[in-house]
Amino acid sequence: MDYLEINGGRKLSGKIDISGAKNAALPVIAATLLNDGISKIDNLPNVVDIKTLLKLIEILGAKVSWINQNAVEIDTTNITSTRAVYEIVSKMRASILVLGPLLTRFGECEVSLPGGCAIGQRPIDMHLKALEAMGADIEIKGGYVRAVAKNGLKGARIIFDKITVGGTENILMAASMAKGVTEIINAAREPEIVQLCEMLQSAGIEIEGVGSSRLLIRGSGGEAIKFPKTISVIPDRIEAGTYLCAGAITYSSITLERVNIEHIQTTIDKLLTMGCDFNIKDESITIYPAKQLKEVNIVTAEYPGFPTDMQAQFMAVASIADGESLIEERLFENRFMHVSELNRLGADIWLKGNTAAIRPVDKLYGADVMATDLRASSALVLAALAAQGTTRIRRIYHLDRGYDNLEGKLKKLNADIIRKKENS
Ligand code: EPZ
Repeated sequence: MDYLEINGGRKLSGKIDISGAKNAALPVIAATLLNDGISKIDNLPNVVDIKTLLKLIEILGAKVSWINQNAVEIDTTNITSTRAVYEIVSKMRASILVLGPLLTRFGECEVSLPGGCAIGQRPIDMHLKALEAMGADIEIKGGYVRAVAKNGLKGARIIFDKITVGGTENILMAASMAKGVTEIINAAREPEIVQLCEMLQSAGIEIEGVGSSRLLIRGSGGEAIKFPKTISVIPDRIEAGTYLCAGAITYSSITLERVNIEHIQTTIDKLLTMGCDFNIKDESITIYPAKQLKEVNIVTAEYPGFPTDMQAQFMAVASIADGESLIEERLFENRFMHVSELNRLGADIWLKGNTAAIRPVDKLYGADVMATDLRASSALVLAALAAQGTTRIRRIYHLDRGYDNLEGKLKKLNADIIRKKENS
């Protein structure tokens, strides 16, 4: 198994490009199942989760042709199976995104239940309840969700009890081929949702309220839909935020290109509070380090609030600030697995319920640590970049799921980072 070895304490410098967003690309790929022809996608990040979803849709009968390492053509004319198997779904929860498109296009499907994961229980009850409201019969048997809507799905008024990104995406896709109008109240407003809406609109689906918490979707009434233009995946706001934190925690100035500034506004605001400064020009952002990092208070929330996917990285940065910071996690019940590992690196973090108190320490020191989920792993990389001495991070397959060429990009920024094999 691979691990990362990082010799910390070096200043970073230079410029890197931000990749396409994994969490935008996943629903875009799932939505190609609505097409009975060829869809083209570019600016795909080169990460394992994308390959996993492509593998799943290949098993369903799609033909995936790579144009280059960031662009694919997906031919979904001949889908031969509507069963999303456990072997793939268990590897990646986002596989549940095939449920809406398969059901609405083929009138039936079976999708393995994704199960819990390191950051929490993560049920899919709201996805299922909404599909039932649209006329699906749903049964859970043998670890699979079996959904049937023989005469197609019908538009309905869906009120989500809680804001759900994946739920909103699944229902948007399901609604796009349903009969009549679907209204989604309390919809998620993340940029990934906006990208999916725009993709569906490019296929002629009428959607009102894009970017708001109330979406109205007029379905095609059972007709498969065509995506006439290449879908270019939006820049990854979490990858961009993670590298800004790398600049902040190492007191370095670095520049990121191909960023959507609006999507990372809350990250920028929090780093400003901590004493960092920025130069922003179009799609480029340069961070200037703080003289001394200051404490910060964060409560995670749905977009446009502070993203839960940036919580771990800020905890790493806050660990060397000059005052006590508080971070409250409101979205996932178990998203603090990085706390004990950050403490192994010398941080002084205390947990009470869903709030972490981060007490300042002068320095972090290299140690052996274990990655537990994607963003927790990136927090360990950040802490290691600032720590004195050598840190070895194990279980980095988590990082490979969502960060495109992490070592390459950090090396380009002058970090001392190397991937090694266990026993080498
Ligand atoms: C998406 O997960 C992202 N994943 C996550 O990013 C991100 O952390 C999360 O949204 C929140 O922003 C992808 O886009 C692939 P939710 P998702 O449905 O869609 C509860 C990363 O690191 N809930 O918005 O699964 C749920 O348990 C990942 O890139 C229900 O109770 O998240 C959670 O507490 C990790 N019932 C809350 O809602 C449901 O039916 C929000 O979850 C659905 C969700």
